[in-house]
Amino acid sequence: MGMNWSGKQVLVCGGAGLIGSFIARELLQRGAAVTIVDNLSSGVLDNIEDIRDDAEVLVADLRDPAICDAAARGKDVVFQLAANMGGIGYITSIGAEIMRDSAGININMLEAARSANVERYFYSSSACVYPEYRQTDEHVTALKEEDAYPAEPDQFYGWEKLFTEKLCEAYQKDYGMCIRVARFHNVFGPVYTGFDKAKGKAPCHLIMKAIQHPDSPFDIWGDGEQTRSFLYIDDCIKGVLRLVASDHGRPINIGSDRLVTINQLADIVIHISGKTIVPTHDLTKPQGVRGRNADLTRVRQVLGWEPEVTLEEGLRRTYEWTVARLDHVRQVCDL
Ligand SMILES: NC(=O)c1ccc[n+]([C@@H]2O[C@H](COP(=O)([O-])OP(=O)(O)OC[C@H]3O[C@@H](n4cnc5c(N)ncnc54)[C@H](O)[C@@H]3O)[C@@H](O)[C@H]2O)c1
Repeated sequence: MGMNWSGKQVLVCGGAGLIGSFIARELLQRGAAVTIVDNLSSGVLDNIEDIRDDAEVLVADLRDPAICDAAARGKDVVFQLAANMGGIGYITSIGAEIMRDSAGININMLEAARSANVERYFYSSSACVYPEYRQTDEHVTALKEEDAYPAEPDQFYGWEKLFTEKLCEAYQKDYGMCIRVARFHNVFGPVYTGFDKAKGKAPCHLIMKAIQHPDSPFDIWGDGEQTRSFLYIDDCIKGVLRLVASDHGRPINIGSDRLVTINQLADIVIHISGKTIVPTHDLTKPQGVRGRNADLTRVRQVLGWEPEVTLEEGLRRTYEWTVARLDHVRQVCDL
């Protein structure tokens, strides 16, 4: 299954963030002409410093429909990865801004892509669409795509994602647009913004805590027995590109089905650091749903895709990347 990207005009919305920057890099390698749009609200140009001369980079706000129209014009494929989002601390404390910003971006961008007659459109949904009532136990049953309904996401962030999934479905049905939707489960990898205090996520935060130990405490949010599965960025990009090339028009999980507790995640990071660290637990911090795992039956079947990079290897690569440019990371994230 493949697609010839050579000479394709591609727009990557949110291309200065984690997933967008890696998609842009991969598509440039495959010969596409890439335009990145990002307002740098959480992304940074440092994330794309190596490709800035090869891509067209527009610093602009996709909440503005005129920006979306201008960006989509003449494009063959649009990857929509811009969102107001962050780790569990961020999405449990902010609702209105997340819903307003992300719904605005998605409404504008889909309409702009329709007017521009793009061939294909990719939308980045999330495991956060799944209902809270299926995620109350750490020994959780892995979530299948159809488990999203009856809907009851635990955060506003997930409700916006579900709304936009439905918006994509409506645009497919009413306008015949070719839209592909992935539900990402905890994607991590080496980018400067992963360590942001407000918007960073557990894997990068734990890596930074291990690097900074013993100068700062290694604390885990909650009792650490909450469970998740984590996907390394390289595998994520392979999955996305297979999905975009496929004829699968419904939302599909792109994640890992290896369930770990956050304590186990921390242990792997500590092992990589080579340090002797005894974590503490901060029970005042949010932990999100108690357990969440991805069922990969459909994605294996439909795309022949599954993760190849182990959690240990992905964390090791991210750890080493961070150590190698620690001062720069600290400067970007004000640590
Ligand atoms: N990383 C994950 O684990 C994960 C999991 C589930 C879903 N997702 C989804 O995947 C997509 C990409 O996630 P990511 O991890 O790369 O996030 P990210 O925060 O690293 O990237 C998002 C980018 O969008 C940009 N952006 C935000 N608002 C904008 C606006 N108004 N105009 C222009 N640009 C704007 C940000 O500056 C940032 O660079 C998002 O839709 C996210 O919700 C990610």
